[in-house]
Amino acid sequence: MKKIGIGIIGGGLMGREMASAFARWCALLDVEVQPELVAVADLVEDVRNWFRRIPSCVQITGDYHQLLANPAVDVVYVAVPHNLHEKIYCDVLAAGKDLFAEKPFGIDLASARRIAAAAQASGRFVRCSSEFPFLPGAQRVMQQVKHGKLGRVLEVVAAFHHSSDLDATKPANWKRKAATCGEIGVLGDLGMHACHIPLRLGWRPSRLFAQLQKGYPQRPDGKGGMTECDTWDNALLSCWTQIGEHEVPLRLEMKRMAPGETNTWHLEVLGTEGGVRYSTKEPKTLWLFENGKEQFWKKTDLGFGMPFKTVTGGIFEPGFPDMIQQMWAAYLMEREGLLAERCGCATVEEAVATQEIFAAALASHKQGVVTAL
Ligand SMILES: NC(=O)c1ccc[n+]([C@@H]2O[C@H](COP(=O)([O-])OP(=O)(O)OC[C@H]3O[C@@H](n4cnc5c(N)ncnc54)[C@H](O)[C@@H]3O)[C@@H](O)[C@H]2O)c1
Repeated sequence: MKKIGIGIIGGGLMGREMASAFARWCALLDVEVQPELVAVADLVEDVRNWFRRIPSCVQITGDYHQLLANPAVDVVYVAVPHNLHEKIYCDVLAAGKDLFAEKPFGIDLASARRIAAAAQASGRFVRCSSEFPFLPGAQRVMQQVKHGKLGRVLEVVAAFHHSSDLDATKPANWKRKAATCGEIGVLGDLGMHACHIPLRLGWRPSRLFAQLQKGYPQRPDGKGGMTECDTWDNALLSCWTQIGEHEVPLRLEMKRMAPGETNTWHLEVLGTEGGVRYSTKEPKTLWLFENGKEQFWKKTDLGFGMPFKTVTGGIFEPGFPDMIQQMWAAYLMEREGLLAERCGCATVEEAVATQEIFAAALASHKQGVVTAL
């Protein structure tokens, strides 16, 4: 396998998740490239020390400029707070490296557009992280839309819910503050996951009405005091999108205060003749609707039907680390021109399109009106 040198800037939650996906790359059977983590940059010593368990990761630094100067680094994955996206993404591109960016691709729409312009000018290979499309259930929803018999699409629902913020004692982190997470709050945190497949299917909202809700205004600061939290926690977006000859309701839901949910990603497309529904709440189960003399919802258990084949047996069920690894396989194979008909990672255009939706949602909520995109 051809080795690709990877550098990670930001070794927190996602930086470590990516590193562990590379560490079990031997699970993949039909990829021609192998990521090798050679460098990590993080400001925090304890975070950096975790990476010492990875023998190939020989450059461990607090200064990401040193990582960018390392000729062994071909691709840089950046997982830092949103207020740092633009500066670090643009520095990666200026250093002549390919970029695997994190959502929401800048702190706001203007920032996302500047990053997109820098990506275009650099000519580098740039994609944005969005792992849910790589689940077998998500793949089947997309296949059903493209090749199934749905008739006229009546309604689309795409949602991502968790409940971490229901715990008022949970200390605040950068995701609870507009200065570091962005004014878009939960939209930037979870929005890519709800928007990506609708956008990939060509279902860009034409106008929307948004309801945004804040959570607890104060949380423990982790040092014995309290600190202000000022980001949106829940967002309900009632959108219109054009599907075929019809304007169709598209509901996008992103919640950090959804009672009982841990990481529930849901996608549903209902048509006059058929429908399809998938939720990570029942991660094995795909639901298919058939209209006829009688109306049926059929369910089937999906196995390990991942886009890139692995050593894992076909009857087993996939989880979060699997889709992260599949997403990386898609990034690296597309970079080599070997993706073929498989689904790729979120493009720069898709990332900017999510920010257009978020900006319209802020405007809609602020004015209490339907906003055109
Ligand atoms: N795709 C997903 O499912 C998913 C899930 C969670 C987070 N994310 C995204 O990943 C990104 C990071 O989120 P996270 O949850 O990993 O955050 P995190 O707080 O766990 O990690 C961020 C890390 O960045 C480091 N950092 C901050 N400034 C830095 C700098 N100047 N140089 C080097 N390191 C620096 C911090 O020390 C920290 O370790 C965000 O864009 C977030 O939206 C994506």
